[in-house]
Amino acid sequence: MAKVAVLGYGTVGSGVVEVLDTNADQVLESAGEKLEVKYILDLRDFPGDKHETQVVHDINIILDDPEIEVICETMGGIEPAFSFEKSALERGKSVCTSNKELVAAHGPELEEIAKKNGASYLFEASVGGGIPVLRTLNDSMKHEKIDSVTGILNGTTNYILTKMDKEGTGFATVLKAAQDKGYAERNPEADIEGYDARRKLAILASLLSGKYVNSEEIYTEGITRISIEDFEYARTLNMAIKLLAICRKNENGVLLNMVAPFLIPYENSLANVNGVFNAISVHGNMLGDVMFYGKGAGKKATASAVVADMIDIIKHRGKHININMKAEPATVVSKDNAVRSFFVRVPSQCKEQALEVFGRDVDEVRNDNVSGEFAFVTGDLSERDFEEKLWKMDSVKGYIRLY
Ligand code: HSE
Repeated sequence: MAKVAVLGYGTVGSGVVEVLDTNADQVLESAGEKLEVKYILDLRDFPGDKHETQVVHDINIILDDPEIEVICETMGGIEPAFSFEKSALERGKSVCTSNKELVAAHGPELEEIAKKNGASYLFEASVGGGIPVLRTLNDSMKHEKIDSVTGILNGTTNYILTKMDKEGTGFATVLKAAQDKGYAERNPEADIEGYDARRKLAILASLLSGKYVNSEEIYTEGITRISIEDFEYARTLNMAIKLLAICRKNENGVLLNMVAPFLIPYENSLANVNGVFNAISVHGNMLGDVMFYGKGAGKKATASAVVADMIDIIKHRGKHININMKAEPATVVSKDNAVRSFFVRVPSQCKEQALEVFGRDVDEVRNDNVSGEFAFVTGDLSERDFEEKLWKMDSVKGYIRLY
């Protein structure tokens, strides 16, 4: 029997307890022994809850109990989660977590502490919710030279973009409806500005590089300036608009990371990932392309991934499960030299200027439902050249990169 503690009895934490209760037989079979929740740490009491007697309010009760082997942190945020995880690992207790903010900020450092103390630090649920992508990268694909990871890593923005596309409704209206239904947070900034996706990308990029990628240094654009007119043109182009998180690694291990909306041809599988679903496409030098698809959020899916980590830790009792991440900073380059085409919209009166600046060989995109503007796709340009050209224009209604 293994004794575990759950920190934070909110959505994911209560989900973890539920998975352990509901799938107790399967967990027993997988781990080889029963997993018992000895403590649940929360500021609140839960009178009437099946597990009310396990609720404690002092982290030291858990840290000081030698029976506790695994601590599952589902509180979220940086503090006190960071201090709690660090203290647990320093005492040789293994930690698993869904806390993407903390893993993005301190994951490599916590992994080093785990290693030093013979414990393990696992965080499958921090990227792609229930999708088992990190374990696969760290295990089945560890022998591959992975040179790219491209993901739809945020369910809220994918839901909004899908609704805008299918229903022809504007961003603000769809966001409001999503908030009313509880699909989007009351404070949606982290999702719609791309910050949530870039944290998840930083975790993936750190794993790819074996070092630390600072999420705040990742170039990030959110979806707030995407309009229904953009979707009209996208349909003309046979493309979808998706918020992509991209990491590319060159032969020398140098990374290029970015998060931004992209136009993707319908024939690309990522274009067909709709609603709250997430997908991550990985390219390995021997394996080729592999795509992971599933629920990137939600109580049970996320909790299932946390329980998978717990089981892994128990199966490897006494051993450190090595995660390819060190606290040393990864070498990253800016997006400036990345070359691609761009879709651009300018007011009709700027057409001539656009042709002078971007060249007369741009491909015009027409759509009968949009008037008063000139829309086109550029030839291949570096990001830096594109930006310089944009600055030369008197007015630009919008632009989206082509994938
Ligand atoms: N806000 C996140 C999303 C939740 O929309 O994907 C899961 O990390």
